Parts: sequence; C-alpha cells; structure tokens
Amino acid sequence: MSQKTQVAIVGAGPAGLLLGHLLRAEGIDCVVVERQSPEYVLGRIRAGVLEQITTDLLQRLGLDERLNKEGLLEEGFCLADGERLIRINTYELTGKHVTIYGQTEVTRDLMDAAEDRGLEIIYEVSDVALHDIESDAPYLTYDKDGKEHRIEARFIAGCDGYYGPSRQAIPVSVAREFERVYPFGWLGILADVPPCHDELIYANHENGFALASMRSKVRSRYYIDVAMTEKVEDWSDARLWDELAVRLGPDAAANITRGPALEKSIAPLRSYVFEPMQHGSLFLAGDSAHIVPPTGAKGLNLAASDVHYLSEAFAGFFNRNDNDAVSGYAKKALSRVWKSERFSWSLTKLMHRFPDDGPFERKMQVAELGYIASSQAAQKSIAENYVGLPV
Ligand code: APR
Ligand code: PHB
Repeated sequence: MSQKTQVAIVGAGPAGLLLGHLLRAEGIDCVVVERQSPEYVLGRIRAGVLEQITTDLLQRLGLDERLNKEGLLEEGFCLADGERLIRINTYELTGKHVTIYGQTEVTRDLMDAAEDRGLEIIYEVSDVALHDIESDAPYLTYDKDGKEHRIEARFIAGCDGYYGPSRQAIPVSVAREFERVYPFGWLGILADVPPCHDELIYANHENGFALASMRSKVRSRYYIDVAMTEKVEDWSDARLWDELAVRLGPDAAANITRGPALEKSIAPLRSYVFEPMQHGSLFLAGDSAHIVPPTGAKGLNLAASDVHYLSEAFAGFFNRNDNDAVSGYAKKALSRVWKSERFSWSLTKLMHRFPDDGPFERKMQVAELGYIASSQAAQKSIAENYVGLPV
C-alpha cells in the first residue's frame, strides 16, 4: 500500500508528536510512524521539568488544559553541597518559571489530541527504512501486519530517538559525532509520596550525587548516581531511601517520606551530538541527533526547540514559498543544542564525584559552589540556562 504526504515523521516520542501537531496547525499534511504501541510509549518514565518554550508551544497548540491544571510552577531550585542549600531563585533572576509536568503526561496529551487534529499516527510498524533522502522525493517503507507499506513525502523528519534508523541513513562520509560517556549512571525511584521539598534539590555529597525531584504534590522522583556495574536488584527500596537521606543532607532527610517504588531503574549518562542535523530531504530532531545527561532536564526541552525551528522551516517552505527556510534549520537548532549540551555537561561536572577526580578537582567544585553561593551574577547565569535560553 502506498500513501502520499508532505512530511513523513519517524517516531512518536515527544519530538515526533509535537512536530506533527505543529505542522497540522500550519495546515501541513504529515504522517507519523512508530515502532511501539501507544501503551509502550506511555510506559517510559522520563524527566518532568518543562522550560517555558515547551509550555508556550503546548499553549499555542491549545493543548495546555491539563498542564495548567496539574503542572506545578517552580520559582527556583537548590544546589546542596553537603553543608548548605544554595537556592537559585530562577523567577526573580529571569522572570521565567519552569513547570513540573511529566514527559509521560505531555506525550499522553499529544497522543489524545491527535485524531481530533487530523494527525495520523501509525503504531506498531516494523522495518522502517528511509529511501532517496538525497532527492526531492524521499519515501519511507515499513511493515505492518505482514504487509509492506510505502509513504512518499517531500521531507522526512527523523524523530526516532538515539537508536532509530534516521540518523543511520546519513552517509558516514558527511557525518560528525561528538560524544562523552560518563563513568556512572542514575538510579531512579518513583514513589507515591509527597516530595521532601517544594523545589528540586541537586546534591553533591561525599558519597555521590543525589536529586530530589517530583511529578506532583503526591508523587516524588529521586535519583542517586551509581557505578554502571551496579545492579538494580542490589538496591532494595530501604537501601535506596537510606542513601538518599545521607546524600541529600539532614534538612531534606528530615522531610523525606518513604514509600514503595512504582519504578526503579538505572540509566546511563551520555553527552552526544550528531552533525549535520539535515541531509538532503531528511531532518533530524530530538534524541535522534543529540543526547544530554539528565542533569538540568534538558532532553525533552531540546526536542521541543528543535521541532519549533523545524516546523517554522517547513511552514516557510510549504506556506510561504520560502525555499531557503529549510536550509537554515540545522544551524539554528545546533546553536541552541550546543548551549544546552554545555549546561548539562557543566552541571554534571559540578554535582558528581568522578572516579578519576583527585583533591584538586574536588577543590574546584568547592570553589565553584562557593562562588555560586556568593555571586548573583553566577546565579543568574545558571538560572537563565535552567529556565531555557531563548529560541
Ligand atoms: N521505527 C519507528 N519508530 C521508531 C524506530 C523505528 N525503527 N526506532 C525508534 N522509534 C521510536 C521510539 O519507539 C520512540 O517512541 O521513536 C521514538 C523516539 O522517541 P524518544 O526516544 O522519546 O525521543 P524524542 O521524541 O526525541 O524525545 C526526546 O525524550 O528520550 C527522551 O530524554 C529524552 O526527554 C528527551 C525526549
Ligand atoms: C525528573 O524529575 O525526573 C528530573 C528532574 C530534573 C532532572 C532530571 C530528572 O535534572
């Protein structure tokens, strides 16, 4: 079976779904193909801190009703250095909030609105392959229910995450990869208990990193860093709660409510950027082109800024006969990607104890945390990155 559209989108994660809605809002035809079922996509637990550019996009689409009801507006966050809490008042320093609202909920809102907005999503496809991406008439093939299908398009958007086929369709001869793999992972726990603090706390303790985060006033998300050789099975809930209490420090510990884990897993930390983000008629967005370590929660927000630029590019091409609109995408997107990569990397370096670090590196962390604690300029710099740089 064969169908025709203007933009074929691979992947129904946040990047693919948000792009699909933005294009539909511009009257542009598109089709999304997704390997997994909707339930599987919604089962993935991801971060939950939205920059204003992300909430603005949802508002523009009129898909912010539940976000407005259930999202928590945050005015600041804290860095803990083992002795004190350094509060960064992001709202006072930048005039902007971040919103606590799980990525799963964003995905659910985008999925639920798809049919009404005429956004076609084909789930549970296999063997997606990209063809003729260097031409003006690229197409996708995929299998569904034992039959081969074909989607012909003017452009293909690769929103299929780190492991998807889109990035791999770009010839090695034009590709450049930049990568840093960190020597630890984050062990996370999700539990239906009130958060220990009304703002996020990122802690750098002698035992290692800890983060107190939340999904709502009754659901908490906590993390500690562990060596990648550690196994989740060796971390009973009790052991993990004990370690969190130590690393977050006595004040936060006094307010921790313990509860059974709804989810517990270890995720690796990686910084990765693939260039170029466009090749011929193929455009990459989100995790297919870049990964950030979770420190600072930039992953979803970067996917949102990519698809913001990409939808503008496609709208220029299809609706305003602006053939140059699409050629500017990669440069614009990458400029913001690299700044978020820098922030995520520097916050990771500041807040973790690296196995190879010696006393000198530790003194550097102490000095930097001391500087941040005492300097409004330093706090403002962190705050403007945390709430999200302009698009
Ligand atoms: N065919 C079709 N779909 C695919 C294929 C394939 N071969 N491979 C992957 N996909 C789908 C995945 O199943 C997933 O639903 O592409 C989607 C990619 O979604 P994400 O991995 O969530 O990536 P992205 O949409 O870019 O979102 C970025 O999500 O991964 C987090 O931390 C990341 O928060 C960031 C955000
Ligand atoms: C989360 O709530 O899952 C979360 C919050 C902040 C981060 C990373 C993850 O930096």
